[in-house]
Parts: sequence; structure tokens; C-alpha cells
Amino acid sequence: DMLDKGGFPHYMLKEIFDQPNCLRDCMRGRLFAEDDMGGNDAYDPSTGYADPNVHNDVVLSAVRNNRDRLLSASRFIIVACGTSWHAGLIGKQLIEHYCKIPVEVDYASEFRYRDPVIYPTDVVIAISQSGETADTLAAIKLAKEKGACIFGIVNAVGSSIARETDTGIYIHVGPEIGVASTKAFTGQLTCLILLALALGHTKGTIDEKEYVDMIHELNAIPAKIEEVLKHNEDIRLLARTYTYATNFLYLGRGWNYPVALEGALKLKEISYIHAEGYPAAEMKHGPIALVDNMMPCLFVATHHKGYEKIISNMQEVKARGGRIIAVVSANDDEVSKIADAVIEVPDTLAPLAPLLSVIPLQMLAYHIAVEKGLNVDMPRNLAKSVTVE
Ligand code: G6P
Repeated sequence: DMLDKGGFPHYMLKEIFDQPNCLRDCMRGRLFAEDDMGGNDAYDPSTGYADPNVHNDVVLSAVRNNRDRLLSASRFIIVACGTSWHAGLIGKQLIEHYCKIPVEVDYASEFRYRDPVIYPTDVVIAISQSGETADTLAAIKLAKEKGACIFGIVNAVGSSIARETDTGIYIHVGPEIGVASTKAFTGQLTCLILLALALGHTKGTIDEKEYVDMIHELNAIPAKIEEVLKHNEDIRLLARTYTYATNFLYLGRGWNYPVALEGALKLKEISYIHAEGYPAAEMKHGPIALVDNMMPCLFVATHHKGYEKIISNMQEVKARGGRIIAVVSANDDEVSKIADAVIEVPDTLAPLAPLLSVIPLQMLAYHIAVEKGLNVDMPRNLAKSVTVE
């Protein structure tokens, strides 16, 4: 058992620590980043030889082989459940930003029962770790009947959802055992980033410099996650201070808003602490009423657009006695003046911020649950894959 867990006490912690290598696996053969010497590991799968003409590129066969269908899409609709739905919220921002195609994101269970408007020109993206979630499977069957193209972002090879799709990308992060999803989430985000970049580049809606910068930064992400993982012990100690909490608020803006939702979900799932994720600016329309000195608030406040605004949200919480934990970019000296605790993540480009900022939230949820003596790999009432409605 310890062997399966690679020496870690739980699958969840192993899977958190596996993320750098999992993302390398996910990007292998898809992301080609020129090194400083001008070389890269690009190869042509048809010949098996390195292609010296491929430099700084994202190559997805799903995009190459379905170019016209994807480029002529009037709209993308992302359907998913749970953590995969949170990845979808970030996918919407990525595809709209890089491809200039409108994107809707829906819970599969709501989509399928709503009598949704689906056009044959739509592309429906199903995101699923297990590939067996009943609602997601039913949602794509419905969309298929209406003539939409079905694109899968799935981890389990040969799963029901994978078989139902027209095309797609496998996440390739290996089997996920812990019920609370970790590496599948960052793998899903990586796939969505690759998709948005490949499609935007093919369509001509991403400028060359931004494309190359993103490729280099994405290539550097696994090593940056390794940096974040070094905070594990600090986060374990921090977690001890928060086992008393019965409520938690997670706040973020922009790219980090879905990260706040995901952080809150992680905590709920395994520590049984009620946690609410919210867009930070919406806080004043409700959740702020709950803030007192028994309400820890976690802010995802990396140094990107909306940073100044989130600091003022933080001050509002502080003024009401709330305890503040903040995830910040390296060398931030503003937030530490306000927050009770800060966790630093390396700097990166804004669209990649979630890949780093979610890691401390996974670790925090894990350690709070362990500290409370709970079964983190198999939390009560939850199933790894929900194959019934
Ligand atoms: C369950 C799992 C979650 C997961 C969700 C969707 O609720 O506990 O971790 O995010 O199902 O699963 P899927 O396999 O479709 O990504």
C-alpha cells in the first residue's frame, strides 16, 4: 500500500506531488519550446524524426485533423461536473481570450435537462477525469443528436465519454485514486491551455509574441510547481491553526476566481468544513455579512489584473475582524501587511496563474483534513466517479 502511494501517507498527497511530472506527460509531444540554444525536441510522428522546422509550437492532432470544423464553430459549450466544471470556467476565459469564440460553461446535469439550444455549428467540450460521469455522458449524447461536434478532454483512456466524442485530447496524467481531484484538474487546465493556443494560432487570433511567450512559460510551469510544493511543511503548520473553523470563504478574481471555487470545494470535500468560493468583488453583495473573527478568508491574490482591487477587498475583510490567508506572487510586499499568513507562488503569465495558485489550496485542504483525523482519500458520502444520476 505504501509502495502504491510512493512513500506518501495518502494517495491525495502523492497525486499533489506528482503534478510536475504529470503535466510534463500531458505536454509531451504537444508542446515544443525552443531552448536557449535554439534546439527543441519536436518530432514528426509520421516519420519518427525530429522536425528541425518546428520551433515554439503547440501541436494537437485533434486540432490539425478537425481544423475546419473547429474554426467554423460559432460557439463552444463546455459541459462538466465538479472539479472538471471549475476547469471549464477557466477554459472559457482561455478560448474567448485566444480564439475570440464565445464559450458557455454548464453543469452537465443542468444542461441536459434544460432543453438547451444547440446548433450543428456548436462544438461541445466534455471535460471529465473518469470519462464515466453519467450526467456528462448524457449531455454529450444529447448534443450529438442535435448535430454538434463533440470534443473530449478526458483522463481515462477508452472510457464511455472518450468513446462518445468525435475528437479530443487525453489528459495523460495517469490514474487518479484520491476522491478529491488534484492532478486531473491541473491536467485539464493544461489541455485547455494547449487547445486555446493551438486553435488561436491556427485561427490567427493570437499574436506571435504572446504565443511564443505562453509556450515558454507553460514549459516552465512544472518546475514552478516544484517550487510551490516546497511550502508543504509551512502549509502543514498553517493548517493546524485553522482546524477550529466551521466556515471558510475563498475569494479570487479573473483567472483566479475559478481557483477560489476549486479551493473551497477541496476543503468541503475532505475536511467537512463549510467553504464558499466567490468572486472577490461579489463579496460585498452577500458573503461579507458572514465575516467575523471566526471566519477565515482565503484570498487568491497573485500579481495580475485586479490585484489592487483584491487588496481593497482584503481590507474590507480585515476591518470586520476576519482572518486572512493569501496566496500571492513572489516578492509581494503589500499583502503581507494586511494578511495573517501568506503563501508565495512564483510569478507567471496571468492565464497560467491557476496552475500555480491552486497547488497551495490543495495542500491546505489536505493538511486541515489530516489534522482533523479524517479519511482524505475516501471522504464520506462521495464517490470517485458518479455513474448514476
Ligand atoms: C465526482 C468526483 C469529483 C469530480 C466529479 C466529476 O464528484 O468526486 O472529484 O470532479 O465527480 O468527475 P469527472 O470524472 O467527470 O471529472
